[in-house]
Amino acid sequence: MKKATMIMDKDFTIGRIDKRIYGSFIEHLGRAVYGGIYEPGHPTADEYGFRKDVIELVRKLDVPVVRYPGGNFVSGFDWEDSVGPRDQRPKRLDLAWATTESNQVGMHEFADWCKKANTEMMYAINLGTRGADAARNVVEYANHKGGSYYSDMRIKNGAKDPLDIKLWCLGNEMDGPWQMGQKTAYEYGRAANEAAKMMRLVDPSIELVACGSSAHDMPTFGSWEYEMLDLCYENVDYVSLHRYYGNPSNKTADFLARSMDLDDFIKTVVSICDAVGGKKHSKKKLNLSFDEWNVWYHSNEQDKEITKADKWGNALPLLEDLYNFEDALLVGSMLITFLRNADRVKIACLAQLVNVIAPIMTRNGGGAWAQTTFWPIMHASAFGRGTALRPVLQSPTYDCTDYENVPLVDATATMDDDGNVTIFAVNRDMTDDIVLDCDLRAFGELEVGEHILLHHDDVKAINTELNPDNVSPVKANGAVLDGGQLTIALPSLSWNVIRLIKK
Ligand code: AHR
Repeated sequence: MKKATMIMDKDFTIGRIDKRIYGSFIEHLGRAVYGGIYEPGHPTADEYGFRKDVIELVRKLDVPVVRYPGGNFVSGFDWEDSVGPRDQRPKRLDLAWATTESNQVGMHEFADWCKKANTEMMYAINLGTRGADAARNVVEYANHKGGSYYSDMRIKNGAKDPLDIKLWCLGNEMDGPWQMGQKTAYEYGRAANEAAKMMRLVDPSIELVACGSSAHDMPTFGSWEYEMLDLCYENVDYVSLHRYYGNPSNKTADFLARSMDLDDFIKTVVSICDAVGGKKHSKKKLNLSFDEWNVWYHSNEQDKEITKADKWGNALPLLEDLYNFEDALLVGSMLITFLRNADRVKIACLAQLVNVIAPIMTRNGGGAWAQTTFWPIMHASAFGRGTALRPVLQSPTYDCTDYENVPLVDATATMDDDGNVTIFAVNRDMTDDIVLDCDLRAFGELEVGEHILLHHDDVKAINTELNPDNVSPVKANGAVLDGGQLTIALPSLSWNVIRLIKK
């Protein structure tokens, strides 16, 4: 039997886990808003038209923050279109996704939805077609208490109290040629700096995220971060990272190793932030907002057909990836990677939340169900709170197309404020179970609370409305804790959550 070991101590820690690493994202794209969170007339719709079946699933994920309203969409968006009487809101062409935006859900409606979903809004401003002036106005509209032009407009539109949005993104993927108003690093650094200054003059309590590269493999990755941060470092709090993984070789072993790239990406951006800080002799440490991450490839071909057939349509079924079991395993490893970097990754937004590359799917007029990826996200959000531990993991390895020495067991651990320990582990081995041994004596008296296992014999298995539990977690009972020594068999290709409860 193959073996892995994990050595850990309650005093060997990475740091406090910022709960916002379990954030998500709703863009005005596809059926995320219309047909996703909002569908008046749906049997479960509340008095505002929000689907209660969707809210229930979102609450299960316990999502602390939701980025909104885009995405590529935001770079052509006029925030003023989305407030005021609904019958007077304009329909606009969305050039990002070649659809039409009705603006029937806007800032106030989304704020209401956030309350119901027990989450907070992270608002992205448009630095593509607009700039610092619109940015300061929207902060005044949302956060100023009253007695000024925009804050009084908010009050007139029905929100007496400020919306109190704490977290703001300074544009979206501004390095990308596909972006409306794409900028060079210099142009963006200047625009972000001026917008940040003016937004903070209106509300000094807000936190700001500057756009890093839209992906690790962008040709300007690295120089983009360095150059733009050199221009806005002191006025921003976080730099963003975005990363989506496909499965071009269709080999599970290659696919499951993608989290190695994620770790490299994070470490490189941390180094660049610190290099800019060092050059500036700054006392400030910039942290990371990984505000778009996921698997995304299943729907690519279908989307071309949909857009061709119905250019400028409304709420088209775009980016509707149906996630399979191996996608859930990679998502699990991505979450483990965020926990391992919890000292610097303070925000992470799964892109996205409903229908659009999402863990939650709906049918218009029909049901809502959890995709395979829902489960590791729910487990990490529920149990991965408190302190990220720094275990030393020794695992047998494998080589694949892009990486050598990929650990067959990918694992980490967290400890909550009551001293309960949770181990998250993916077994990447295609054929063999692996026994994981952990010495837990340093944690005092613990007992095995539960071992949650996600496994399916078919890596391509998916969940559907008619078969929603095809890939879903079960309670396993293979964990043995004896004299502080945990032994557990991790089945071949599996996601495991082992909860150890303080006695
Ligand atoms: O999440 C889908 C899209 O991916 C977002 O709109 C964009 O920011 C990224 O390229």
